[in-house]
Amino acid sequence: MAIEIIGTGRAVPPKRVSNDELAAKIDTSDEWIRSHTGIGYRHIADESTACSDLGLEAAKNALAMTAGYCGDDPEERNRAASEAALTIDMIILATVSPDFYGVPSTACIVQDKLGAKKAGAMDLSAACTGFIYGLETAAGLLTVSSRRKRALVIGAETISKMINWEDRGTCVLFGDGAGAAVLEKTGAENRGILQTLLFADGSGNESLLMRRGGTRYPFKKGEVIDTSICVEMNGQEVYNFAVGAIFSTIKMLAENGNINIDDVAMIVPHQANARIINAARRRLHIPAEKFYLNIEEYANTSSASIPIALDELNRSGQIKKGDLIMTVGFGGGLTYGGNLIIW
Ligand code: COA
Repeated sequence: MAIEIIGTGRAVPPKRVSNDELAAKIDTSDEWIRSHTGIGYRHIADESTACSDLGLEAAKNALAMTAGYCGDDPEERNRAASEAALTIDMIILATVSPDFYGVPSTACIVQDKLGAKKAGAMDLSAACTGFIYGLETAAGLLTVSSRRKRALVIGAETISKMINWEDRGTCVLFGDGAGAAVLEKTGAENRGILQTLLFADGSGNESLLMRRGGTRYPFKKGEVIDTSICVEMNGQEVYNFAVGAIFSTIKMLAENGNINIDDVAMIVPHQANARIINAARRRLHIPAEKFYLNIEEYANTSSASIPIALDELNRSGQIKKGDLIMTVGFGGGLTYGGNLIIW
């Protein structure tokens, strides 16, 4: 038995904001952002677009691919996606920027709009490691029940709505987007998700958090709120944690899987900061071309960054069936982990 990825999709909002556009509003510069992070642009959702809207589009693209449609015609795409949605047994949506807090889950909204009538649906909260956690959760759910055959895993974020756009230490780093993958339980041997590592270090929970709006610091009646619920971050702490998390996860995936890094076709890291990725890469003595980087275009899209990257690689033919792929992610919680996959 194997749990294989049989379709991928992505969606980003059309509005593309450059570093120079941010520099016109706050005290920053294209030079600083590029040299400290590798980010050039980010895509930002408009007022009427919420997390489920991007998740839905990414999911439709992934589902249509499983039904053999990868073209640009929206009607054809929707027809193929609706057909494939009926085959889905479980939907897991990873996000830190859900449509609503608590209930309903964003996954349920996507399930309804897809018409995935027989699917269970739930959200997953593991910040930027959410898609990696989601793949393993879905793989487990498919494995334990003979009734479940296919799952849809989505990473979707409209994190721009949870950013303090006056805080240059955080606002330059993030962008909106969604990515999705369809998993199928097959009879193949030595294929699909071979191994997943999931870790947490909750002692770092204050390094990256959205403080207000939950039950710890709820909004109070009569209170005047002059900022949105926004991300607070200790950049240096997260930076040091992230370099260590990438280093140890890749090393452990390789050792546990008894594989040589030379045999890995592509490592797909969470796209938080090109400097973080390069620092870990140098410690591991792995050549730059093994790491896929698209942070220049999208900035940090949290749980969406890895599935967006996988879809770009898949659709462009840069990864092919049979290739050995590693994902590695880290983020708030703190959480980290990775997957080893034969594509
Ligand atoms: N533009 C210009 N200057 C900025 C800036 C910006 N957008 N953001 C911070 N600065 C300034 C700081 O105010 C500071 O100025 P000072 O020396 O006068 O006080 C200076 O740049 C250096 O700040 P510092 O925080 O030490 O920079 P850094 O080299 O650590 O880079 C981050 C900052 C945020 C890019 C880096 O810490 C980082 O990437 N951390 C991890 C963040 C992350 O990936 N989070 C998500 C994880 S999923």
